[in-house]
Amino acid sequence: MTEQTTETDQHPLRVAIVGSGPSGFYAAGHLLSQAGRPIEVDVFDRLPTPWGLVRGGVAPDHPKIKSVTRVYEKTAAKEGFRFFGNVEVGSDVSHDELASWYDAVIYASGTSGDKKSGIAGEDLPGSLSATEFVGWYNAHPDFRDLDPDLSPKRAVVIGNGNVAIDCARMLTLTHDELAVTDIADHALELLDAAGVEEIVVLGRRGPEQAAFTNPELLELGELADADVIVDPADLEIPDELRQDDLDATARKNVEILREYAERQPSGKRKRIVLRFLTSPVELLGDGKVEQVRLVRNELVRDERGGLRARPTDQEELIEAGLVLRAIGYTGFAIPGVPFNEGTGLIPHDGDGRVVHDGAPVPGLYTAGWIKRGPSGVIGTNKKCAQETVDALLADFAGKESTPPVDTDDVAKILGERVSDLVDYAGWELIDAHEKGLGEPHGRPRVKLTLVDEMVRIAAQQEPAAR
Ligand SMILES: Cc1cc2nc3c(=O)[nH]c(=O)nc-3n(C[C@H](O)[C@H](O)[C@H](O)COP(=O)(O)OP(=O)(O)OC[C@H]3O[C@@H](n4cnc5c(N)ncnc54)[C@H](O)[C@@H]3O)c2cc1C
Ligand SMILES: NC(=O)c1ccc[n+]([C@@H]2O[C@H](COP(=O)([O-])OP(=O)(O)OC[C@H]3O[C@@H](n4cnc5c(N)ncnc54)[C@H](OP(=O)(O)O)[C@@H]3O)[C@@H](O)[C@H]2O)c1
Repeated sequence: MTEQTTETDQHPLRVAIVGSGPSGFYAAGHLLSQAGRPIEVDVFDRLPTPWGLVRGGVAPDHPKIKSVTRVYEKTAAKEGFRFFGNVEVGSDVSHDELASWYDAVIYASGTSGDKKSGIAGEDLPGSLSATEFVGWYNAHPDFRDLDPDLSPKRAVVIGNGNVAIDCARMLTLTHDELAVTDIADHALELLDAAGVEEIVVLGRRGPEQAAFTNPELLELGELADADVIVDPADLEIPDELRQDDLDATARKNVEILREYAERQPSGKRKRIVLRFLTSPVELLGDGKVEQVRLVRNELVRDERGGLRARPTDQEELIEAGLVLRAIGYTGFAIPGVPFNEGTGLIPHDGDGRVVHDGAPVPGLYTAGWIKRGPSGVIGTNKKCAQETVDALLADFAGKESTPPVDTDDVAKILGERVSDLVDYAGWELIDAHEKGLGEPHGRPRVKLTLVDEMVRIAAQQEPAAR
C-alpha cells in the first residue's frame, strides 16, 4: 500500500516558469494561490528586468496599462516565489537541466520574432520591423543601438493592428507629450528631431477587417500634432462583400473611420493617412529605402467564406524613406522544447500540455503568446495561464514531488554558472534606481538600456557614467 501524504509532510511542488511577462506572472500567481498543497515557483527571464512586453512593448504614452505590474509585484512577494533574471534558457541553462531540477516547467517565453512580409527590398536599410522599432523606443537592451533614420518626410507602416497604430502614433507625439513618459532617452532625442510629416498606414484588406481596437483607433483622431486622413472611397464596400457577422468592435471601427473620412484636415504639423485594400509589393532605393511600390487589392471570398486580399493590376509608387512592418510576431525554438516551425509556436493539447509526436510530454507546459500565438491583450493571458496551471495541477494531483535537487542547490548552481544573475531584490534595486532618475523630471522612470549597467545596479555597485 502506498503511504498517504498530508499537506504538511508533502514536499513542495517545484515549478520553473520561463518568461516573466504577463503569462509567466499569471501562471506564477495562480500556482502560488493554491491552498491545497505547498508550491515553489522559480521564474526565469533572459533580461535582468521582468514584465516582458509590459515593459518592452506597451507604448510609453500608455502608463495606466503598465500599472498591471502591481498585480505581478504582489505575486513576487508571495512565499515560494523566486526570480532568476539575466538567465537565458537554452544557453545559460538548458531545458534538460530545468526538466531534471523541477517537477514541471512552463514555457511562457512569448513570440519576440517578427513576421516577414517576403516582399523585395524588405531588408534595405530604412525598413524595420515593429519588434525593432518598439524595442528601441522602449529601451529594450537588444535594440538600444538601432539608431533609425527618422529624417525622411514620409513613413509607411504596414499592418492594421494595434501595433501599427502604436508605431504611427509614436511618430507624431510632441516633445512635451513624450518627455513625461518612460520612453528611452535615445528615442526621445531622435523622435524630437524627426523629419517625418506623413505616416501612411497600409491595411491589405478593408476597413471592416482591420484588427484595431476602438480606443486605439479613436486616439488617432485626438492627436495634438497630427490630422488623421481617410479617403471616403476606401470605405465603400460592395454589398456582396459586406460581412454579416461583424463584431461590435469592427462595426464601431467602421463608424469611427466614417467620421474621420468626413473631417477636413485642420492643418496640424503631421498627418496619419489610413489606407485600405493596399499592399506594398516592393521597397526600392539606392542602398536604403526611398520608394514603396504599392498595389491596390480587391477582396475575394476564400473556400471557407472568409475574405482575403487579392492584388489587382493597379500599382503606384510613393516616396518613403522609413518603412515599419507591424504584421505580427513569431516565436523562437528553445533547444530541447518541442516547436512547430510552421506556426512558430510550442505545440500543446489545447490546455497547455506540451505535445511531442502526438502525446503530452510529462511535466512540460506552455502559456501565453508562445502557446496561443501573438494576439490578445495583457488580460487575455490570465485565463490562458490559469488554464495551463489547472492542467498541471490536475496532472500532479495526488502525486509526490520528486525533484532530485533542492531549491538551494538550484540557486547555487545558477549562481556559479551565471555570474551576473539578477534576483528579485536586484530587480527592485534597478526599479528604484530608474524611478529615482525619472523623478526630478516628472517621469515615471528613466529606463536603463545596458544589461551591464543593470547588473551593476542590481549588485548595489555604482553605475558607470551615463
Ligand atoms: C508592441 C506591443 C504593444 C502592446 N501593447 C499592449 C497594450 O497597450 N495593452 C495590452 O493589453 N496589450 C498590449 N500588448 C499585448 C501584450 O503585451 C501581450 O498580450 C503580452 O505581453 C503577452 O505576454 P507573454 O507573457 O506571453 O509574452 P511576453 O510579454 O513577450 O513575455 C515573454 C518573456 O519571456 C522572456 N524570454 C523569452 N525567451 C526566453 C528564454 N529563452 N529564456 C528566458 N526568458 C525568455 C522574454 O524576455 C519576456 O520577458 C502589446 C503587444 C505588443 C507587441
Ligand atoms: N493598446 C493595446 O491594447 C495594444 C497595443 C498593441 C498591441 N496589442 C495587441 O497585441 C496583439 C498583436 O498586435 P499586432 O498589431 O501585432 O497584431 P494583429 O492585431 O494580429 O494585426 C496584424 C495586422 O497585420 C496584417 N498583416 C499580416 N500579415 C500581413 C502581410 N503579409 N501584409 C500586410 N499586412 C499583413 C494583418 O492583416 P490581416 O487581418 O489581413 O491578416 C493585421 O492587420 C493584438 O491582439 C493587439 O490587440 C494591444
